[in-house]
Amino acid sequence: MTAYIKLEQVSFSWPQGGQVLRDINLSIEKNSTIALMGPNGSGKTTLGKLIIGLLKPSSGRVFISGTDAEEYSLAARGRLIGYVFQNPEGQFFASTITEEIGFALKYRGMSPDKVQQRVEEMLTLFELEEYADTFPFNLSQGEKQRLALAAIIALRPGFIILDEPFTGLDWLRKQRLQEVLQRVRNEGVGYLLISHDRDMASRLCSRVLQLEGGELQ
Ligand SMILES: Nc1ncnc2c1ncn2[C@@H]1O[C@H](COP(=O)(O)OP(=O)(O)O)[C@@H](O)[C@H]1O
Ligand SMILES: [Mg+2]
Repeated sequence: MTAYIKLEQVSFSWPQGGQVLRDINLSIEKNSTIALMGPNGSGKTTLGKLIIGLLKPSSGRVFISGTDAEEYSLAARGRLIGYVFQNPEGQFFASTITEEIGFALKYRGMSPDKVQQRVEEMLTLFELEEYADTFPFNLSQGEKQRLALAAIIALRPGFIILDEPFTGLDWLRKQRLQEVLQRVRNEGVGYLLISHDRDMASRLCSRVLQLEGGELQ
């Protein structure tokens, strides 16, 4: 099976000099569930951004679905891989949750009936029904994480990257996000979960990667 995401000898340094990643080789299959762990500042977010194309490798290549990722536009790459940022509210722009989830579907030409059906499905899956008409910024951190994930899953990406989605959540909201990720996994959608939480990583992922000293252990 060809890897959905492949990194070949990827290195990354900031222009000011500091090298973050060194000769990273990594193959990720489409429906796999992988945890990326490592100390603060070890380059986990950098690695995620290199995969979706918000950063470019200093050397080496990234392939998505067998094609050099440079050949995709950023928008096309976003359709292949959904990304949930560490502070998802930076991604929100709509005035209600319903609109936040439905916007990109509408923009892609889905009929209003289908948009509504997909939005309702997502509200149920992510336990957000009661907030359908709420302003996204008024949600708790846990609900914001679920909304960001809902808006991304609604688009049916081939794979998802989540950057520290459990940070700042209380126990109950952690449990809810865990259940939701289990459902995502059961639907056959793979993800890369950047997390500090080893228990969560082992419960939700079949493979755990450790990033340290610029290298994958
Ligand atoms: N915009 C930036 N400019 C320069 N250095 C940065 C920038 N963002 C992050 N860094 C540095 O790059 C390294 C890796 O950061 P990051 O990928 O955010 O680590 P992690 O997500 O594992 O905590 C750190 O040393 C961090 O200070
Ligand atoms: Mg980070």
